[in-house]
Amino acid sequence: MVQASENDILSIGGVLNDSARPLKERFRALFTLKNIGGPTAIEQIHACFKDQSALLKHELAYCLGQMQDPAAISILTNVLEDLSQEPMVRHEAGEALGAIGVSSVIPLLEKYCKDPVPEVAETCELALNRLKWLESNGNVKDTKNLYFTIDPAPATEITDVNVLRNILLDESKSLFDRYRAMFSLRNLGTTESIIALSEGLKAGSALFKHEVAFVLGQLQNEVCVPGLQASLEDTDENEMVRHECAEALGSIATPECYEILNRYLNDSKRVVRESCIIALDMCDYENSTEFQYADTLAKLPIV
Ligand SMILES: [Fe+2]
Ligand SMILES: [Fe+2]
Repeated sequence: MVQASENDILSIGGVLNDSARPLKERFRALFTLKNIGGPTAIEQIHACFKDQSALLKHELAYCLGQMQDPAAISILTNVLEDLSQEPMVRHEAGEALGAIGVSSVIPLLEKYCKDPVPEVAETCELALNRLKWLESNGNVKDTKNLYFTIDPAPATEITDVNVLRNILLDESKSLFDRYRAMFSLRNLGTTESIIALSEGLKAGSALFKHEVAFVLGQLQNEVCVPGLQASLEDTDENEMVRHECAEALGSIATPECYEILNRYLNDSKRVVRESCIIALDMCDYENSTEFQYADTLAKLPIV
């Protein structure tokens, strides 16, 4: 948590809600509000759901989930139920409801497990599984990990890379089990486990592949660059996957990543273009001497 006065929070919220400001400034404002937390920060984030950028709105939902404040449940419920919001935004709202970890949302998630949009239905199924897992494991809210993120599924106790790889790539297994293998491979963090993970970029639904890309971004290992590049460059790939590949390249932040991202700044998909803008800002941040705030490893620094 970061200490800030009410006026500071309102002025940071002003940056977030100002569509005339550069997107990267608005993202930095959002992550600052996430770190501050509390009712005013949540209200400022809530106000931004009327924006035109699906990328920004999906990140609003992500941050509300990561804050784990039950005060955001009604906001996220409305976003999940609002069919005019893009699938990517509704997906993130469903995931955030799982991240907060309160079982009162189980009936809502059960309803949206049948949503016609696969990304939304699969997300709600995962969130439901996470909440049930928490319930049967004494509500351990300790799924924070080395990366300071609340994962959509808990890692397993398995440490054998081959076993985990087989689960990860087996499309007949449940999505929850495959996600659990994914986070176990991430936590191992060896070259072998990272290579196994990157094979997941070609093995499943758009939702699954976008999560693999997100996790590869957390790992920040250059060995994943060719796989991430291939998915970003594949214009037939789902834009949610391409978006997450761009951001992962942004957090790996090698000169090659800059070069790839610069080539997609004019992509025909708005979400991809905007992801490249944010990813290049992440590259700058990774390569700058800015003080590394302990709680911001996952994305961007405090404004
Ligand atoms: Fe997502
Ligand atoms: Fe995303």
